[in-house]
Amino acid sequence: MSKPEIEDGEQGLADPQFRADVLTGLERRPRAIPARWFYDRRGSELFEDITALPEYYPTRTETAILETICPEVAGIAGRGRAVVEFGSGSSTKTPVLLRCTEPSAYVPIDISGAFLRESSRVLSQAFPNLLVLPFEADFMRALVLPQAVADAPKLGFFPGSTIGNMIPLMAVDLLRAMRASLGEGAMLLIGMDRVKDPATLVAAYDDTAGVTAAFNLNLLERINRELDGTIPVDAFAHEARWNDDRARIEMHLVARRDVDFSVDGRPFAMAAGESIHTENSHKYGSRDARILLRSGGWTPLKEWTDPDGLFSVYLAEAQAERPAP
Ligand code: AVJ
Repeated sequence: MSKPEIEDGEQGLADPQFRADVLTGLERRPRAIPARWFYDRRGSELFEDITALPEYYPTRTETAILETICPEVAGIAGRGRAVVEFGSGSSTKTPVLLRCTEPSAYVPIDISGAFLRESSRVLSQAFPNLLVLPFEADFMRALVLPQAVADAPKLGFFPGSTIGNMIPLMAVDLLRAMRASLGEGAMLLIGMDRVKDPATLVAAYDDTAGVTAAFNLNLLERINRELDGTIPVDAFAHEARWNDDRARIEMHLVARRDVDFSVDGRPFAMAAGESIHTENSHKYGSRDARILLRSGGWTPLKEWTDPDGLFSVYLAEAQAERPAP
């Protein structure tokens, strides 16, 4: 899933990038803060809780798909590839894939070193014979993978519909970077949440237990904790909106009343009804997904979905470029 980060901003070690993103995000119109900042310790816990909610179908649906298709994936990809996972986070789906693909090595990539080391340790225990090579890096850029897997054919793994957090422009950049990192002949197994009726989508991001609301509002608490903020959190309401034009769920924090606060000594004023946009979760139908993959240099080989057509997993290949037409 996404990439829960372990950070220690509570001790006054606030990430300068967090400060910069929050201050510029609150000054811009519409106000917006990147979704990656949800994942402090509390946010990561709340996200784990989200994945178990009755309304939040993606995690259990994708895990079930992976369990079903894994032997088939192994058949197409062949054994002995190095599995490279992008944004490995706490990944509960990884063992499902590793069990049947019999990889030559497993390379989890994450920007959070602490989380990476912890999950690598757990995985090494579960798979004692597997070469695990944790790689701390920002996978939005093309990477030079560890020498030990330089010559192995690769199988990229990007589950969780994390790609949905990106606007298509960034999603294509990422797919191209993955292609550059993994090389020609590589394969990619990627999960994407599908377009469906808006009521189901909105419910998945606005559960009755209020866990997603707490997850969204925790961003304001994190700002107060780490950036010396004075935001009255109860003056904000969680909102999940379906943006049909852009085929995405948006999460917002909407001011319930006129509200004044400061962050890092800087004053802000919001009018009642004004929002801070905190997350996008793009949804892709089959054709949308195939165009997205091709735009990023990946040829779709196969799509699998669940019986209700909620979520899809694609296997794609980095084939050699073919000339015109
Ligand atoms: C981790 C980005 C895939 O978009 O569904 C879940 C994050 N936000 N509920 C998603 C999320 C609110 C999730 N991703």
